[in-house]
Amino acid sequence: MTNRPRLTSDQLRSRWWFDNPEHPGTTALCIERYMNYGVTLEELTSGRPIIGIAQSGSDLTPCNRHHLELVKRVKDGIRAAGGVPFEFPMHPIHENVRRPTAALDRNLAYLGLVEVLHGYPLDGVVMTTGCDKTTPACLMAAATVNIPAIVLSGGPMLNGWRGNERVGSGTVIWELRKRLATGDIEYAEFLSRATDSAPSVGHCNTMGTASTMNSMAEALGMSLPGSAMIPGPYKERSMVAYQTGDRIVNMVWEDIRPLDILTRAAFENAVVVCSALGGSSNAPVHVNAIACHAGVKLDNDDWQRLGHPVPLLANVMPAGAYLGEEFYRAGGVPAVALELLKHGLLNGDVMTVNGHTMAENLKGNDTLDDDVIRRFDNPLVAHAGFLNLKGNLFDSALMKTSVISPDFRRRFLDNPEDIEAFEGRVVVFDGSEDYHARIDDPSLNIDATTILVMRGAGPVGHPGGAEVVNMQPPEALIRQGIESLPCLGDGRQSGTSGSPSILNASPEAATGGPLALLETGDRLRVDLGRGRVVLMVDESTLELRRERLDAIGGYPYPAHQTPWQEIQRTLIEPLDRGMTLRGADEYRDVARVSPPR
Ligand code: FES
Ligand code: MG
Repeated sequence: MTNRPRLTSDQLRSRWWFDNPEHPGTTALCIERYMNYGVTLEELTSGRPIIGIAQSGSDLTPCNRHHLELVKRVKDGIRAAGGVPFEFPMHPIHENVRRPTAALDRNLAYLGLVEVLHGYPLDGVVMTTGCDKTTPACLMAAATVNIPAIVLSGGPMLNGWRGNERVGSGTVIWELRKRLATGDIEYAEFLSRATDSAPSVGHCNTMGTASTMNSMAEALGMSLPGSAMIPGPYKERSMVAYQTGDRIVNMVWEDIRPLDILTRAAFENAVVVCSALGGSSNAPVHVNAIACHAGVKLDNDDWQRLGHPVPLLANVMPAGAYLGEEFYRAGGVPAVALELLKHGLLNGDVMTVNGHTMAENLKGNDTLDDDVIRRFDNPLVAHAGFLNLKGNLFDSALMKTSVISPDFRRRFLDNPEDIEAFEGRVVVFDGSEDYHARIDDPSLNIDATTILVMRGAGPVGHPGGAEVVNMQPPEALIRQGIESLPCLGDGRQSGTSGSPSILNASPEAATGGPLALLETGDRLRVDLGRGRVVLMVDESTLELRRERLDAIGGYPYPAHQTPWQEIQRTLIEPLDRGMTLRGADEYRDVARVSPPR
């Protein structure tokens, strides 16, 4: 609980719109039009909390589409608790389909939400989340506006199956693409197997970015305990929708706001939980962005320091074997968090949306299946969090260590007495079109020792940043049994990918990062044990390359296609700083300025 007293009706910010004798004209205009929607005069003027419901589901956003149904139970819960619900649409974000990338829209949806939450008569908000970037957009806005807010995830799809084999969203596509490349399967079979992974409503059923970010919302304390991973079609999903609606009304009276919950300790908990989940490599980007808007300093050094030592407990694809349904039945996020709390890795005193502390919420939530959610002393991987690599090519790049093979770990990472570094010749691609056009070109001489580099894929180079760094080797190599090569780049990769690429290199080539100076044939030394990646080219050669690049106006990237692409490219911070909009974090707690002028 906060120390603040309970609010009284006349302290609700919606009163300025709905019961304002000093501005009778304003009140009349607000009331008459909302009554058209069937709300009664009594509901609007009797001092009930007005609760917004940010609707992220639509025909364009199938991963969140069942929120169109769930919202009915949210409204029932709001009304039962004495509130008045007002549903409104969010800018759609559908990860798989939006071009050039859904990441372009996270900040756009954030801006839209901030304007709505600030400028309309809302006392609190239920934020419906699911697909990938809908969750960070909502949490960033909640931090900025700071009216009482609660997250309701739509939950993952049911497990995908082909025969007795689990088929995980996204993850299956990365596997099938290799089989398609070698001619092992045809295009029609590729499509039919890919669709096996999507058997129901809900978001990706693997621990991709959607499951990770909804688990982060819960780990931060911003959604009801145990709610993040309830599969979309389960009856518990609509029950928790009702409870979420009921709870937000009470949060308004109790005056529990996002910035009471989104503290430094809460973010540290989120980092630790993410590692134990084998969470998406997009999580540091989004969680750092939410922290930035909450006024909490969090960076990729924190992710390595707090997260890398944490063991992998969730046996969920792509790092593990199971999918969302088993994970939920085994206890979901609370069972993972309790195991971490018992071993002193979580701060149990943090406040959560239900008014209880994390430790109170976790009581009795032991894992029900210790193959799916491992015990702390029997993890899948001992140190599973991200590494934050540095060197003369970038200030920060991440490596997801939960997916590194045991053999690779032994040689390059886990044996402090005898760590090897590896060296390789790089082959450089400028964006994914260049990669697809040239990867099978024999003159590139790609062999088992090559390091594939992708640049021009950061938030400026490819507006919003592309999920393309996990590059497949040439078909000829796959046929020889070499299914992966080390990859490095200034873009991202899908959270459903099991590739241990070196990603999110910041600064990116397009903003003058040294990656722009790299040439095919250069040699790189990668020393994971010491966290270093070093380009082995002398300074004078790099100077010359820099002059040549400056003479053509810097690293080239494609023209803006829309006004928003231009605005975002002008303002966007690098991936390691969460890809936020420069200056937006100066606006915090904006609903405190009430009424809006
Ligand atoms: Fe929407 Fe994965 S594509 S959640
Ligand atoms: Mg993605």
